[in-house]
Amino acid sequence: MGASPAGDFYSLPLRNRQQAGSYKKTQRKKAMSNWTDVAAEADLFEGAGIAVAHEGQDIALFIVDGEVFAINNLCTHGNAKLCDGFVEGHNVECPFHQAQFSLRDGSVACGPATEPVKSWPVKMEGGRVFLQLG
Ligand code: FES
Repeated sequence: MGASPAGDFYSLPLRNRQQAGSYKKTQRKKAMSNWTDVAAEADLFEGAGIAVAHEGQDIALFIVDGEVFAINNLCTHGNAKLCDGFVEGHNVECPFHQAQFSLRDGSVACGPATEPVKSWPVKMEGGRVFLQLG
């Protein structure tokens, strides 16, 4: 039988296990508090994007079939705002030269853009939209 991470944990002296547990709790708390409230769910409309700004970041939010997506609002091909783009399925089409980006991960679905846009994890809670921006 091979060694497992749990086996390693329990082979530590009690004092070290307590410190490791405390470290894990701190990390978990940090991860949970890493979400930033950026918008109300009621502000979103199927088939259209909205722009939100947080600490200098220009972010476009979209809702597709009740699922919310967050990508960088600026097209990587030029100075166009993707929140003004046309939503088709899970892609948004840039209003300038029609490059398409996946709302799921920001990847390029169709040129002329060649660089993806950044995307962020999203969660909904209490009618609010939270992004994991860190
Ligand atoms: S500016 Fe977006 S495709 Fe050219």
